[in-house]
Amino acid sequence: MLAEYLLLPLLASYASAVQISVAKSGGNVTTGLQYGAMEEEINHCGEGGLYAELIRNRAFQGSTTYPSNLDAWSAVGGSTLSLQNLTDPLSSALPTSVRITGKGTSGISNTGFWGIDVRPQKYSGSFYVKGSYKGSFTASLQASNGEVFASAQVSSKSVANDWVQHEFTLTPKKKASSSNNTFVLTFDASKTSGGSLDFNLISLFPPTWNNRPNGMRRDLMQALQDLGPKFLRFPGGNNLEGQTIEGRWKWNETIGPLTQRPGRATTWGYEETSGMGLVEYMEWCDDLGMEPILAVWAGLALNGNVVPEAELDVYVQDALDELEFLTGSVDTKYGALRAKYGHPKPWTIRYVEVGNEDNLSSGLSSYKSYRFQAFYDAITKKYPNIQVLASTIDMTLPGNAGGDYHLYDIPDNFITKFGMFDSYSDAHPILLGEIAATEYNNGVGIDWSNTHFSLYPWWLGSVAEAVFLLGAERNADKIIGTTYAPFLMNLDSYEWSPTMISFNSNPDDTAKSTSWHVYNLFNKNHMTNTLPATSNDTFGPLYYATGVNSKTNSHIFKAAVYNSTADVPVSLTFEGVGRGTTADLTILTAPSDVSMNAVGGANVVQSQTTKIKAGKQGVFSFNLPNLSVAVLTTN
Ligand SMILES: *[C@@H]1O[C@H](CO)[C@@H](O)[C@H](O)[C@H]1NC(C)=O
Ligand SMILES: *[C@@H]1O[C@H](CO)[C@@H](O)[C@H](O)[C@H]1NC(C)=O
Ligand SMILES: *[C@@H]1O[C@H](CO)[C@@H](O)[C@H](O)[C@H]1NC(C)=O
Ligand SMILES: *[C@@H]1O[C@H](CO)[C@@H](O)[C@H](O)[C@H]1NC(C)=O
Ligand SMILES: *[C@@H]1O[C@H](CO)[C@@H](O)[C@H](O)[C@H]1NC(C)=O
Ligand SMILES: *[C@@H]1O[C@H](CO)[C@@H](O)[C@H](O)[C@H]1NC(C)=O
Ligand SMILES: *[C@@H]1O[C@H](CO)[C@@H](O)[C@H](O)[C@H]1NC(C)=O
Ligand SMILES: *[C@@H]1O[C@H](CO)[C@@H](O)[C@H](O)[C@H]1NC(C)=O
Repeated sequence: MLAEYLLLPLLASYASAVQISVAKSGGNVTTGLQYGAMEEEINHCGEGGLYAELIRNRAFQGSTTYPSNLDAWSAVGGSTLSLQNLTDPLSSALPTSVRITGKGTSGISNTGFWGIDVRPQKYSGSFYVKGSYKGSFTASLQASNGEVFASAQVSSKSVANDWVQHEFTLTPKKKASSSNNTFVLTFDASKTSGGSLDFNLISLFPPTWNNRPNGMRRDLMQALQDLGPKFLRFPGGNNLEGQTIEGRWKWNETIGPLTQRPGRATTWGYEETSGMGLVEYMEWCDDLGMEPILAVWAGLALNGNVVPEAELDVYVQDALDELEFLTGSVDTKYGALRAKYGHPKPWTIRYVEVGNEDNLSSGLSSYKSYRFQAFYDAITKKYPNIQVLASTIDMTLPGNAGGDYHLYDIPDNFITKFGMFDSYSDAHPILLGEIAATEYNNGVGIDWSNTHFSLYPWWLGSVAEAVFLLGAERNADKIIGTTYAPFLMNLDSYEWSPTMISFNSNPDDTAKSTSWHVYNLFNKNHMTNTLPATSNDTFGPLYYATGVNSKTNSHIFKAAVYNSTADVPVSLTFEGVGRGTTADLTILTAPSDVSMNAVGGANVVQSQTTKIKAGKQGVFSFNLPNLSVAVLTTN
């Protein structure tokens, strides 16, 4: 290969190696959690995504923004459906139910979240019904052509004047050929008193991660666990803020029995059930060993409305109540409520973020002048061990407060920001709470009016992200952690792309993106300390961070090559690491700069690991190709 370069004068500078010498000491201790995940109820990330519920619009929840409707439902057997607000509803949180009226076999069917995955496994379902009925119900999973995969007879316990829950299980004998299936619930209307029955909260779950009731979809949890995120930032995002002050995410309306959760108009164009609420987020953290980074509502809604200073106290108190709910002993008011809901043992919260992107929606002046300070003071006073984070870095941060920086941009601008943290002080650690290359290089920068962002992360963007992440790793004493955002996208209903993991109703189709592979490589090779390096070349096209993992005693070199005209030869030494030492070198590449991992498609990221040995003076010599991401770890 070298001979080839010599023929081309343009490429001559890489005929010889970039020399990098890593010192033995003088680095910084990594402060952070490093690579994590972020929850934002967008693209059916939770509902119709991670949250395993299969029935869409299960309790006909509505709001002034998205009135109750019969989306995803249709009548069976010539019956008619009508939404009712009965004087005696299932609960005040779930005021709307469906009345099914018919003759003979009558019922309702649901198409799920754009399909229902059917395979040989146990599905657990339930529904509430009101009305005198002497027959039995039939619950089934069916193909669109009517083929029945599983069916259960449920004897009626239904009575005239009360809501009675009925439970059932379904176990298909075979896997359906697609997820174009429906859930069907029928009864014999001739055995009712007036030809109709009222139904609500019709629910069906497949087996969930760790078999938790009301739990998470297994394939998506697996894709997350494989990545091994160290933290979870939740509950958003714009989702936390709400379109209006009243529409904010209210933690207290996402807890307790499902019949007590009214649901909410999300920021992202649909009503949600709040079935995936605060406790489910914490269980998600528990199940994947993630540190929770809890975001609390900070007095700014997306329409620009801000809570005036004189009225902010109630929201500050609400945040303290939420913290008491999560961390208080069972002797406290909210700690007792948590115990009542099945979690007597308090959780630990070490990070709280105040709001989301409060430098936007004309929020910065109030955030700087009183909003952040009010939350910061109250939280640090009661919980001195909590690291409070501002949702922006566009302000002078008080005390030990940290900040949050978000970056959505074209790939080239990730490269120019490689050094942005070099000049930051370590007094106020930064969370990189939302990071993604979203749009192809256009020579200018991101165009927010262009909604045609790339559908999936693509290789060039992922490499550019890697370069930026290396800039953060070099400053690991200042960076709390980094997460791609958003994390999950249901391809059948989304309004924001790209995301880390894409999916549809068929778990076999779930796609881990090219960026997932980059994060995975960097995350699995954790540096506990950075180590200073000197080089005889400037950064670009080769970018890198160097350090050590003090637990494994392994020296680590992480690198990315962007925009090179040729392979970059590297001569790497670590002070104190001698000739004959072996190392694993993993290099990620992809067939082209626009390669992407699509739902239902194959993984395009090529990963090659080779063992190399340090030569004379402990030099590791290797080549890194254009548009590659690499990690070398000494054995
Ligand atoms: C770095 O050092 C190597 C080995 O001496 C040399 O071949 C190469 O040209 C140097 N690179 C630069 C940019 O000076
Ligand atoms: C360690 O941190 C100091 C201060 O933040 C910085 O000047 C120095 O470059 C860092 N060292 C390394 C190896 O990153
Ligand atoms: C039921 O009440 C909700 C408000 O809680 C209202 O938005 C909806 O229109 C009512 N639906 C019917 C069918 O009356
Ligand atoms: C699912 O089946 C229905 C009924 O046969 C059909 O109209 C629809 O196009 C199918 N959808 C998909 C995604 O195949
Ligand atoms: C939840 O808390 C808010 C205050 O933030 C309050 O207005 C609301 O009534 C509470 N909801 C319930 C169901 O208690
Ligand atoms: C707000 O901060 C984000 C980064 O977190 C930045 O991209 C954006 O330009 C800032 N907006 C304003 C109006 O300062
Ligand atoms: C990458 O190369 C292209 C084409 O030469 C150039 O326009 C662009 O500025 C380069 N990007 C960076 C970050 O150097
Ligand atoms: C390196 O990658 C850049 C960005 O995709 C591309 O423009 C350039 O042609 C590549 N160079 C080589 C030698 O492949």
